[in-house]
Amino acid sequence: MIQRSKLTLLALPGLAVLALAIHSADPSSASPRAGAEIAVDDDGEAGPLHESMEVIQKGMKGIRKMLSKPEQKDAAVKLCQEMQAAALVGFQHPPEPQTELDGDASVDFSADFRKRMLTVCSTLVDLEAALAKGDADAAKTIYRTLGKQKKEGHDTYL
Ligand code: HEM
Repeated sequence: MIQRSKLTLLALPGLAVLALAIHSADPSSASPRAGAEIAVDDDGEAGPLHESMEVIQKGMKGIRKMLSKPEQKDAAVKLCQEMQAAALVGFQHPPEPQTELDGDASVDFSADFRKRMLTVCSTLVDLEAALAKGDADAAKTIYRTLGKQKKEGHDTYL
């Protein structure tokens, strides 16, 4: 049986990311409070974008096993919603360009990144709907679309 414990584990970093995002969205808290914890994962990397990506990645692994298992529908829907929340955290934290960009290019770099993250979130809503309806064929197609969005995003931004 899944998976309740696995899901709890998956949810925890998501909640940490959300807490961090809420903290950093507060304009009065531009620098971390004394003693505030910054999420650092087991590969030693830190930051809300990195953490959001890790939540989506773990979610992708978890969901893959649930695509054809209607009995795990509720857990799969919950996982999709956690991944959507993580995508919206990533959306708020565009990466720094590797090279210095002039004004318009810098605007485009950030805007394109954020639109891609919204697209990932939107695709995750489609995945949730397919899973909720028990449409395994649609869920598998949408899952592959997410894989393409990841590859295209990483080809451009990593
Ligand atoms: C299903 C969609 C996606 C998944 C599962 C995913 C997964 C990941 C993972 C696992 C990492 C960490 C890589 C590492 O530590 O070596 C990462 C990093 C990153 N991803 Fe994604 N990604 C997705 C979509 C995207 C998209 C659409 C973009 C761009 C619009 C993007 C941009 C980035 C960037 C800039 C980083 C580096 C962030 C950092 O580590 O500080 N990703 N992603």
